[in-house]
Amino acid sequence: MAETGTDLAKAKTLLESGALVAIPTETVYGLAGNALNEKALLAIFETKNRPQFDPLIVHVASLEQARDLVIGFPPAAENLAKEFWPGPLTLLLRKKNIVPDLATSGLDTVGIRCPDHPLTLSLLQKLSFPLAAPSANPFGYVSPTQASHVNDQLGSRIGYILDGGISRVGIESTIVGFTPGDKPVIYRLGGLSVEQVESVAGPATLQVNSSSNPKAPGQLKSHYAPGKPVKMGNLQHLLKEYAGARIGVIAFQHPLKEVDPSFQIILSPQGDMAEAAANLFRALRELDKKPIDTILAEPVPETGLGRAINDRLQRAAADKF
Ligand code: TXA
Ligand code: MG
Repeated sequence: MAETGTDLAKAKTLLESGALVAIPTETVYGLAGNALNEKALLAIFETKNRPQFDPLIVHVASLEQARDLVIGFPPAAENLAKEFWPGPLTLLLRKKNIVPDLATSGLDTVGIRCPDHPLTLSLLQKLSFPLAAPSANPFGYVSPTQASHVNDQLGSRIGYILDGGISRVGIESTIVGFTPGDKPVIYRLGGLSVEQVESVAGPATLQVNSSSNPKAPGQLKSHYAPGKPVKMGNLQHLLKEYAGARIGVIAFQHPLKEVDPSFQIILSPQGDMAEAAANLFRALRELDKKPIDTILAEPVPETGLGRAINDRLQRAAADKF
């Protein structure tokens, strides 16, 4: 069990000593360490069992702090930051030398975002350095959206969990990079919809699928996956296919009368996409703990955050390798 609480002074002292602290954000909880300290960065990779080719996102208190870490700020990036920070948007920008290569896995760009959570923003404002923070889960598993999720898997490996309640957005940030001509490229669908990105930066290309050498491992075919197999498709068809099997169900709006309600999670009875996104990872984790063998899930409509939800479900359902 990791100590859990809202003691900002304690979190600050630990981080200043090079130790790690789990922090709440509006998207998912992060496993944070001093982004400019190589020892802290190594500890992040080790604690998560994360390969070092997977770069980390650096969290800042403001657009001004982000400027200290990057060479130039393309106009499209600046416009996006001004519109959506603090918020679920990570920008890939050319890094300055003060950002260790370990943070970016040797890439010349660094992923930066300003998270929209009062506790974590206040912590970042008190610190003299930015925080590197991947999602606070073992590599490849479902991201945590509340303190107890972090404790379930990493509790014995970290000193302190800053408890900021349930993550409001519930799905990771949208990652946006830029072409040399300043056009936006979306590398990971996330808590900011494609429509929102395009409303500020113009038409975006999507590069969210990659096989062996992904730019963002969130692009790996199998990622964000619970321990139990996930099958995605039309629920009525899947029910027939899995007749007699021990199944759990993730449905968008409507429960299935054929299935025990305690083995079903409805993402949003009103069909609200933001609510569905906020409930998705909790649903995967809760069903993973039930006495079932397979999780059946239906795709949601491809509007707004629906694309990011379907992306996560597809990766959760992909064969592991
Ligand atoms: O919402 C979020 O982004 C959460 C919270 C904690 O901020 N963080 C998060 O981090 O999801 P993580 O490490 O689980 O996922 C970060 C993704 C990885 O797939 C990584 O490859 C990609 O961001 N990434 C980071 N820096 C990159 C870079 N310079 N170029 C390409 N991809 C990058
Ligand atoms: Mg992650």
